[in-house]
Amino acid sequence: MDDVARAAQTAARAALAVTLPRRWAHTRGVAGHARVLAAGLPPGDDETLVAAAWLHDIGYAPSVVRTGFHPLDGARHARSLGFPDRVAALVAFHSAAAVKAGLLGLADQLADFADECSIVHDLLWYADMSTDPTGRPVSFEARMAEVRLRRANDPVALAALDLGLPARRDAWRRAEEWLRSAVTCGG
Ligand SMILES: [Fe+2]
Repeated sequence: MDDVARAAQTAARAALAVTLPRRWAHTRGVAGHARVLAAGLPPGDDETLVAAAWLHDIGYAPSVVRTGFHPLDGARHARSLGFPDRVAALVAFHSAAAVKAGLLGLADQLADFADECSIVHDLLWYADMSTDPTGRPVSFEARMAEVRLRRANDPVALAALDLGLPARRDAWRRAEEWLRSAVTCGG
């Protein structure tokens, strides 16, 4: 494993493994999927994707929570630990975080990070959305249904889920198209 990804794994384990074991199981599943996906990426992008996958939910850790909005808290924590700005930014904007930031009035703070438009961005969302809370693979529709059920008492989360659904679906579609093209080129 590359140095940045290894450091990200270490940081995520330290923050999540004991205090939030279920979140840690999900994180391990996302990172494992990201590592498989990363095999089709150029050097640099591959390690960035895996590092971001390890760190994407670190903002849930009690030791990391500041605003209570986990993408922002996680991105700031990643930056404070010295991870590359690109990794922190991928954490900040993962899985339609910008939509919820707008609803929470945190868009200005999230704008401290630069959202990138790339296959790395899409693959991070894809790895997250295709992994259930226990770390197992899941379909897009099942994952969205699971999130909706888990957040049933959180109207802001439900509104963010609805508003962010097209962006989530588009990222999923682009990731699957990229996977199909990667298979074609390799075959
Ligand atoms: Fe996640």
